[in-house]
Amino acid sequence: MLKLHRTIESNSALLMFGILIVSMIGGFVQIVPNLFDESLHKGTENVKPYTALQLTGRDIYIREGCVGCHSQQIRPLVAEVMRYGQASVAGEHIYDRPFLWGSKRTGPDLGRVGGKYSDKWHELHLTNPRSVVPASIMPAYPWLAKNKVDAKDITAKLELLKWYGHPYTDAEIEQAEQAISGKTELEAVIAYLQVLGTFR
Ligand code: HEC
Repeated sequence: MLKLHRTIESNSALLMFGILIVSMIGGFVQIVPNLFDESLHKGTENVKPYTALQLTGRDIYIREGCVGCHSQQIRPLVAEVMRYGQASVAGEHIYDRPFLWGSKRTGPDLGRVGGKYSDKWHELHLTNPRSVVPASIMPAYPWLAKNKVDAKDITAKLELLKWYGHPYTDAEIEQAEQAISGKTELEAVIAYLQVLGTFR
């Protein structure tokens, strides 16, 4: 046994091969059962594709790097459920492309933040977090209120998502540009935040 150990540890190619085999077994054990678990493939009862404004807000959320400080996945642990609400399930995220589950929590999880605060609270908070949470270390995003959303790509975005299977109607796609033009980036981000966690 000791001899085998020594042979593997002193031969880097053999060691790498061994690591590969062991991680492949681990990967199979974790991944393969999920491929056959129907509940992970179906949407939840209330899941809906994002509206043009929510989708625009989501893209701004990505652009501003909010995902670097905020996760959107509540784990099924008592402390998390007590703090944030019902644990996240896969079916709520079928229209998240790419998903924004995140892995870093400098700030709280936002998986169920929709409806927790008023639009006005978000407006004050995003423009200057310290105005509503005095000890906050979150950066301010004052430009969101000043910038108008860029409406020119929204039709193409919805068409692409429809191609991926998101059930947008032709009317929704046709009206998208008009629906968001003139809105501020702040309005779009708030529309997105307010829907988070309501697809359960
Ligand atoms: C540098 C880390 C950081 C970044 C980047 C960041 N936040 Fe935060 N966020 C925090 C912290 C810390 C808190 C908790 C204090 C507070 O409420 O301000 C917070 C709180 C929040 C809350 C309130 C959550 C609750 O349940 O009370 C919302 C909503 C929020 N952030 C949205 C955003 C959005 C949208 C962005 C991107 C535009 C963003 N955050 C970027 C750190 C960050």
